[in-house]
Amino acid sequence: MRLHGDAALSLAVQLLSEPLSWPVADLRIATECSITYHQSMARVRIRLARPGDSSALADLRYRFRIETVPATETKSRFLHRCIPWMRKRFRSGSSPWRCWVLDDGKQLLGHICVQLFEKIPNPVNEPEFHAYVTNFYIVPEMRSHGLGKRLLNKALSWCRARGTDAVILWATPGSKSLYHRCGFVESTDVFELRDGVRQPH
Ligand SMILES: CC(C)(COP(=O)(O)OP(=O)(O)OC[C@H]1O[C@@H](n2cnc3c(N)ncnc32)[C@H](O)[C@@H]1OP(=O)(O)O)[C@@H](O)C(=O)NCCC(=O)NCCS
Repeated sequence: MRLHGDAALSLAVQLLSEPLSWPVADLRIATECSITYHQSMARVRIRLARPGDSSALADLRYRFRIETVPATETKSRFLHRCIPWMRKRFRSGSSPWRCWVLDDGKQLLGHICVQLFEKIPNPVNEPEFHAYVTNFYIVPEMRSHGLGKRLLNKALSWCRARGTDAVILWATPGSKSLYHRCGFVESTDVFELRDGVRQPH
């Protein structure tokens, strides 16, 4: 049986709403592999991005950024530099980048990325990586069904399994409630210095 439209969406959301529970020992393995919320008809799943996703990811990146800020670069020019950038960063292995995508079997519906960055070694009991969460996006027609929270939790599980110290991000105004629900607090001690507007390439 194949479901389409709202029926498929509601099944996918229901499947994604099932609590994910792994034995602790399996967490690391599970976060490295894809997890299929498996039903033949609604193949919505969260998985690690592959080099072959780079075009779709760059396209979504463009859609994401121009939703709120006008582009200063043509789409084709942007894709030309973003696709190879993503292909190189999101091939796991030793890259500090990870990207998870929401895949319905035909197209990507969203994504989230994490970059681990090193701290200087220290002699106290403190983890030596921070994590930067970025490029968090769900296509507009799939929003507010809990998919963003699932993707975010996936990325946070991976950070936790790596014993990161702080997980940081810059929140858009509309997304703050979601971050609060996932345990984030707004920092009182991070300083930010911005040096004017970035020039287009
Ligand atoms: C933020 C986003 C990834 C969340 O995905 P989602 O599937 O809608 O999230 P969920 O259904 O799990 O949770 C809903 C929450 O998403 C956030 N949200 C919903 N629509 C949003 C929008 N247009 N812009 C920003 N955040 C939004 C809200 O925090 C909402 O919680 P609320 O209902 O209490 O206000 C998605 O809304 C999106 O892509 N927004 C535009 C891009 C963006 O702002 N990304 C975050 C960058 S920090």
